[in-house]
Amino acid sequence: MALLEIKKYPDKVLKQKTQELSNIDGNTQKLIDDMLETMHNVRGLGLAANQVGISQRLCVIDLSIKEDNKIPVIILINPVIVESEGAIDAEEGCLSLPGYMSSIKRAEKVFVKGLNREGKPFELEASGLLARALQHEIDHLEGMLMFDRMSPIKREFFKRKYLRDIRKIKTDK
Ligand code: CO
Repeated sequence: MALLEIKKYPDKVLKQKTQELSNIDGNTQKLIDDMLETMHNVRGLGLAANQVGISQRLCVIDLSIKEDNKIPVIILINPVIVESEGAIDAEEGCLSLPGYMSSIKRAEKVFVKGLNREGKPFELEASGLLARALQHEIDHLEGMLMFDRMSPIKREFFKRKYLRDIRKIKTDK
């Protein structure tokens, strides 16, 4: 296994829609293991393949550090949200926007279809933190970051502040 570099905004790969996987092979399995190791290393709750520079419709979620009930690690290949219900605001962060938290409105419940690690179809109904994590990661696969879910005014403010702060960090070094 290997730690992968996590791409940060404004890296272009994060803004591109990912490609569906047509075959799940040894490279896919290695990528999944490396993504899990990379996510666990930074104590993230989810990671999409394009966040490590691979534009494939694949993401991993592990809420075990946050939730008391042990939800197993979830591997999603070609996931799609087929139904969603309700709306709820909550704070979230993103490994590609390090150091930032923001309240984002998302559906309360989602119904997701996709393939598991073995390439077998599966369905998942989720609410709470899992529903939020699924929407966040599937947004990544569509080339969307959490500020794309903000109002235009808040988005511009957030982007400007973020870009100013990363410039500051670079000049400080
Ligand atoms: Co993210």
